[in-house]
Amino acid sequence: MLFNLPVKIYMGDSILDKLKETAGWGKKAFLVTGRNFALGTGLLQKAEALLKEAGVGTSRFTEVEPEPCVETAEKGAKACKDAGCDCVVGIGGGSPLDTAKAIAILATNAGSLRDYFGEEKFPNDPLPVIAVPTTAGTGSEVARYAVMVDWSIPGKKTISSYKILPKISILDPSLTITLTKELTVFTGMDAFSHSLEGYMSTGANPLSDLFAVESMKIISRNLLKVLSKPGDAGLRGSMLYASMLAGMVINKTGTIIVHGMAYPLALGYRLKHGQTNAMLLSSAIAYLYPHYREKLILLEKELGADIRAVLERLVKGTGVSFRLRDCGVLREDIDKLAQEAVGSCERAMKRMKVTLGADDFRKIYEKAF
Ligand SMILES: [Fe+2]
Repeated sequence: MLFNLPVKIYMGDSILDKLKETAGWGKKAFLVTGRNFALGTGLLQKAEALLKEAGVGTSRFTEVEPEPCVETAEKGAKACKDAGCDCVVGIGGGSPLDTAKAIAILATNAGSLRDYFGEEKFPNDPLPVIAVPTTAGTGSEVARYAVMVDWSIPGKKTISSYKILPKISILDPSLTITLTKELTVFTGMDAFSHSLEGYMSTGANPLSDLFAVESMKIISRNLLKVLSKPGDAGLRGSMLYASMLAGMVINKTGTIIVHGMAYPLALGYRLKHGQTNAMLLSSAIAYLYPHYREKLILLEKELGADIRAVLERLVKGTGVSFRLRDCGVLREDIDKLAQEAVGSCERAMKRMKVTLGADDFRKIYEKAF
């Protein structure tokens, strides 16, 4: 059994000062954030002040878009090198954290990010990465993946390497308190998807299953509660903890077809990552259920309910519509989506007990429609 997770994890309220430990990894930090949240809330400025107190210089890059692309990482890497930074601090949701990892790779490896798509492709060690998540869903703070959009394909591509695991991850639930209802739902469903897909992956082992089951229990109990009590620090902490566990799961197992099928939706219709997973989760699991019955029954014993009913309750209870037709997808697009899913699920298929083709994907999209 293998479980490799060399990330120093801090979790608790008001622990941002742990950022000072960046001093153990570099003299000048390149801070990577999205365009609004960290800057607008003063979190970025707070981080800069803490690093300054620790004797670490800073340079900021606040240009990460949702669904970040190769060019953004390349632009960031150039700025990182020009500023003479020797470590990267990502602050934000999955987009800034994944971009921070991509920048850390390109700061020490020549060429385009495209050269490093796939498993362990870059020759030189990246700059050390420190992660501060501000959403409860990505799991990027404990995962060896950076997912970036390559618009020249177009498609989402994954860079996978244990070398881009953050050295330190700082999980402070208070940073997630102001998440909108929509983002709380989307990111929470993304985390659930990580755990369930990881649980069903052929890469799962008893340790990843332990984290997956615990994380699904916590999310199924707390996601709807946190929507009615968004300021509840305890509930926010539970969601952040569950999301981290889910990240630990996929760090070992990878995801299966839900993420792969979601990629064409996210790119084609400019939908959010977690939203697209939630749009497909129920229909994909219902479709796969007969092939995974034995293992899913064990999960259902832990959850105390049929997994399909759990998903139905979560999806309906959020009050957000996840039907494809309500999110801008046209019925006539489904054949094209199914064709695209053949390519976007190629890696996922290696982790599946059953081989699916375009016709299977079409049926799943149709059910989700
Ligand atoms: Fe995800």
